[in-house]
Amino acid sequence: MGGSMSLFAGKGKPLVGLDIGAASIKLAELRDGSGGGYVLEAAAIEPLPPGAIVESAIKDAQLVGEAVRRVLDKAGTTTRRVAIGVSGNAVIIKTITLPEMSELDLEGQIAYEADQYVPYDIDELNLDFHVLGPSEHEEGHMDVLLAVCKKGLVEEYQQLLDSAGLDLVCVDCAVLAIQNMAELIGNAQRAGAGQAIALVDIGGALLHVNILVDGRTTFVRDHFIGGNDLTQAIQKETGMSFQQAEQLKLEDPAAIPAAAAERYHEQVAAEILRALDFYAANHSQPVSRMLLSGGAALQPNLIEALAMRLDIELDLLQPFPTIALPNDKGFDPIEVRRQGPRMIEALGLALRSGEQP
Ligand SMILES: Nc1ncnc2c1ncn2[C@@H]1O[C@H](COP(=O)(O)OP(=O)(O)OP(=O)(O)O)[C@@H](O)[C@H]1O
Ligand SMILES: [Mg+2]
Repeated sequence: MGGSMSLFAGKGKPLVGLDIGAASIKLAELRDGSGGGYVLEAAAIEPLPPGAIVESAIKDAQLVGEAVRRVLDKAGTTTRRVAIGVSGNAVIIKTITLPEMSELDLEGQIAYEADQYVPYDIDELNLDFHVLGPSEHEEGHMDVLLAVCKKGLVEEYQQLLDSAGLDLVCVDCAVLAIQNMAELIGNAQRAGAGQAIALVDIGGALLHVNILVDGRTTFVRDHFIGGNDLTQAIQKETGMSFQQAEQLKLEDPAAIPAAAAERYHEQVAAEILRALDFYAANHSQPVSRMLLSGGAALQPNLIEALAMRLDIELDLLQPFPTIALPNDKGFDPIEVRRQGPRMIEALGLALRSGEQP
């Protein structure tokens, strides 16, 4: 669905997906498999120090530039065409309902329409849309997914990637890249008719919620919470530095102070509930299932802690083995699978190469 959208796209392939987040850069590159489907061509994760990226915005171009070079090196790819994902305040995604019209007419009118829905100056935005189909609620109308991103943000990335010798060919909304990958993973994970499914990505600093009804985005929201909050809660309990607390969290999760874990789980559940409440105010289809991605979704016990508080079926979005692993690239299958849910956005961005005409 989010399928043909991008805020900015060039033609051709191959291409690498770069998910530049608050905590790490994830790289993924795919190639077509011989029997259909996709094979992982290259993948790597490179950590970023806190503060280098804040809400998609580049706060320390030198640090981020160096990390981009390292992640390419690590992945061992020679591909220089890149797709990135954006999120946070510079990005708005909305489903709007408009009178039915041709794609061409819509093209001419979308800026005018967007202007009514978006609190930014339209000249400062990159803009894209995707016709979802006839409106369920209004005869003779159609639902259109509108995505906008501030031009300034795209320009920042263009500069950053330029200086790393890369060619930015596609800018996508993070949540739509995640959705694309979730769709590829499959029908089995769709909700039944009249039911909604929530895609929830929990990263270092942000939690994205994207609620799909019949496979269509109907509600998107970002919340400012993520794995860094658990690290900080551990800091508070123990007096450790951020780095020490992060290390404890990742290497010895059983030693996380119970009070820190409890407080963090409570906060994450509260943010998700807030999103569900906003959604429920305007939509009747109940959210029956939640699929989690992002590094912080890997925290042991998180799923159980959320299931208890939300009373919803929860699962991790696992891209492997839908994406096949080659035998000749030296991937450690256990490690790749372990990081799978964290690679979802980068993989969704990498899927863009198959769509260019
Ligand atoms: N195995 C794990 N167990 C617990 N937490 C983990 C694990 N792996 C990663 N994390 C946490 O996930 C967070 C990073 O996730 P991710 O790389 O998806 O974030 P990001 O995409 O950089 O951030 P954002 O999406 O907020 O911009 C960090 O807080 C990190 O500590
Ligand atoms: Mg992320």
